[in-house]
Amino acid sequence: MIQRPRGTRDFTPEEMGARRYYESMMRSVAVSHGFREVQTPIFEHTELFTTKSGPGIVEEMYAFKDKGDREICLRPELTASVIRFFVNDLTNYPRPLKMFYFGQCFRYERPQAGRYREFFQFGAEIIGSATPEMDAEMIGLAAAILERTGLKDYKIRVGHIGVLKGMLAQAGVSGDTALPILQKLDKKMYEEAEPLMKAAGMSADSIEKIIATTKVTGPLSVLDTYGGEAGEYLKEVFAILAQFGFRNVEVDLGVVRGLAYYTGIVFEVDAPKLGAEKQICGGGSYSLSELFGGEKVFSTGFAIGFDRTLLAIEKEGQTAPKLLVDAYVIPVNDKTRMKAYEVAALLRRNGISCDLDIMRRNMGKNFKYADAIGARRTIIVGEKELESGCVNVRDMSSGEQKMVPIESLVQHLKG
Ligand code: HAM
Repeated sequence: MIQRPRGTRDFTPEEMGARRYYESMMRSVAVSHGFREVQTPIFEHTELFTTKSGPGIVEEMYAFKDKGDREICLRPELTASVIRFFVNDLTNYPRPLKMFYFGQCFRYERPQAGRYREFFQFGAEIIGSATPEMDAEMIGLAAAILERTGLKDYKIRVGHIGVLKGMLAQAGVSGDTALPILQKLDKKMYEEAEPLMKAAGMSADSIEKIIATTKVTGPLSVLDTYGGEAGEYLKEVFAILAQFGFRNVEVDLGVVRGLAYYTGIVFEVDAPKLGAEKQICGGGSYSLSELFGGEKVFSTGFAIGFDRTLLAIEKEGQTAPKLLVDAYVIPVNDKTRMKAYEVAALLRRNGISCDLDIMRRNMGKNFKYADAIGARRTIIVGEKELESGCVNVRDMSSGEQKMVPIESLVQHLKG
């Protein structure tokens, strides 16, 4: 038997029903916030991702040469693609330019619960200018989407990369030397961050201070001791979020984010019930367009890990409504078969979801099947009823049965 590739999944009809339900919910929240959908290719030039992150990232991607000897990769995320698209074609759009996307991403990772090689992201990006409003709008959209899904146990942790970057710069560490330190601090790998900071010439006192800062979490008041530009900016973002009325948002100065492009606000959302792979969303403001040959613009965005969010929702015991057919049409015998097809077509044409017997089964087996697919009603097309232009409509949950003229069948079912 041929198996699917490692780290990928197939989705059953039930799973797809739930996935589409939550996907369209997220879409409608994004649209209600003034965002419009974009789509970019699933594969890109590898260079799009190595430009900022360096050649090391190739190890984590599905990268290959195509038949024209071009370096190509399956996208590991969509932010770089959206900004490339902006630089290529969208610079004349009015700003702020608010876009959202949904699609699969590919990362060559070790698969485990909640971590796949093919996964889906629902994300959004805004291109405009550096105002706290833009960042608050972005965090606000992520919060609104999660709130709408009905998920309860999650926390939105917001920080500013400028706080730690500023402390490092004060200690004389910046640029390429700062990046690996920030990445270790992001993962709270203090034992590995410390020697890097020592090697960069930092004093024991400033190392201690910076480690303490990564542990600062809590309500807005924890920022009282962090004046500075970054702290002030964060306070303004929180003030706007408070007006929007979001819960589950707190300060966390230890959020650094693994991706190399962030420059300002950074935020992550955890759903603790998921265990090790609990991060369901990540984002922040960043600078990429100038790297792709465009003007330098302020941009901010996030991506929700769609698969993990659904896992978290499921863990909380929530289920999406099942998609059931409204009616299943059963001819009682071969003589009424043709009429049954006509009745099914009438219902379908009038927007009633309808299935019918295409296996030439007997009544008993047809009822069993209608029950198995969860049809709300069966429409029984019998010879005697047809003589008076009627069919029998049976409600599958109550068992109640009623003769209905075909000419008022649509109205009856819709009512
Ligand atoms: P990211 O944190 O790398 O950010 O990914 C966003 C989310 O995708 C994660 O929080 C996680 O839920 C999900 N995710 C990542 N890897 C996997 C995986 N292997 N399996 C399942 N889910 C996964 C970004 O991708 C940025 N582009 C976000 C962004 C947008 N920043 C600014 N704009």
